[in-house]
Amino acid sequence: MEAPTHNVLTLAIILPTRDERDNIAPLIARIDAALGPDGWEAIIVDDDSSDGTADEARRLAAADPRIRVIQRVGRRGLASAVIEGVCSTAAPFVAVMDADHQHDPQLLDAMLRKVRDGEAEVAVASRFVEGASADGLADAHRETGSRLANDLARRLTGVSLTDPLSGYFLMRTGTFRTLVPKLSGIGFKILLDILAAAPEPMRVVEVPLNFAHRRSGDSKLDRAVAFEFLVGLYDRLLGKLVPTRFALFGTVGAVGIAVHMAILAVLLGGVTATFWKAQAIATFGAMSFNFWLNNWLTYRDQRLRGPAALLRGWMGFCATCSVGAFANVAVATLLEGRGVVWVLAALAGIVVGSVWNYALSSRFVWGR
Ligand code: GDD
Ligand code: MN
Repeated sequence: MEAPTHNVLTLAIILPTRDERDNIAPLIARIDAALGPDGWEAIIVDDDSSDGTADEARRLAAADPRIRVIQRVGRRGLASAVIEGVCSTAAPFVAVMDADHQHDPQLLDAMLRKVRDGEAEVAVASRFVEGASADGLADAHRETGSRLANDLARRLTGVSLTDPLSGYFLMRTGTFRTLVPKLSGIGFKILLDILAAAPEPMRVVEVPLNFAHRRSGDSKLDRAVAFEFLVGLYDRLLGKLVPTRFALFGTVGAVGIAVHMAILAVLLGGVTATFWKAQAIATFGAMSFNFWLNNWLTYRDQRLRGPAALLRGWMGFCATCSVGAFANVAVATLLEGRGVVWVLAALAGIVVGSVWNYALSSRFVWGR
């Protein structure tokens, strides 16, 4: 870095890690080569890596005061790790960067200059801007997914960037800190959250990035992360109208109706069964299916595991649903009796029953 910044801490580089042991030392060497001996610190925020990343980071930090380590135990999440890293530095500027060598440290200096000189409030290294390349996105499949997700994010949040999901950006630490109370801390989309949380649209400059291949280890962006991303977008758009978890619960319920009908069709068509028996079996099947899908999706963050907990949860869910079904029929019958058109009466019953099921099962089946 240039003369006036010598010995003064200017830039903190936040490196979130999960199983990146072999990537850290060479990355620090590359940062050192790009920025020179001082003016910066690297903060490794490790989440429970099983490959000894935190020990390796401490080993490096013991010999180099520019390196710091935050080890989180029993925690997960790229975005929340980044937030904790940012809140732990005294440097006036902060950069967030992947630790797997997909982001080139050579860009840091130019990004810092742009923000420090006031050209922009955030400098983003983009994979999709003119002059960049996204070669490191493991395959065409992943690249399509990434472009789609970016496109969706842009449309839904009104942020006009080529790469609002980039994991490589730089800004003033103070600006970031003031936005922290508004950040969700969920998933990978930390930059998007920051841009959406800012009271005024932020001035952003994009720097072309040649997104490289990861040096060693595997990507942690899996289906769960992609799902969290969609849930997060929904939450931002409609979460205040219909709470996200209730929307998921309702969606699962709708799928459950399809399952119910399918079972009924099979029983009535193939096997000779009386209607009430078929209906009872279909109801039980749909309830069991809904329990499984809710446990897997709606309550993925507090999922019941192990045979005993699952059995208890399943029985509790069926009991809850029976009460809900009773409320459903009671309300619908009452309304229909008062002259409400049958479709509306039935719908009201379904809504009341669903809210009841939701309230009870979130409290007693998945509650803590
Ligand atoms: N502390 C912590 N906790 N770090 C994590 C976690 C976590 O739960 N999950 C991933 N990381 C770290 C990884 O170790 C890596 O240093 C960095 O975060 C990026 O994770 P990757 O697993 O390498 O992500 P990717 O390369 O597949 O995804 C890239 O594209 C995404 C958008 O398409 C990255 O650039 C992401 O930052 C970006 O959001
Ligand atoms: Mn990566």
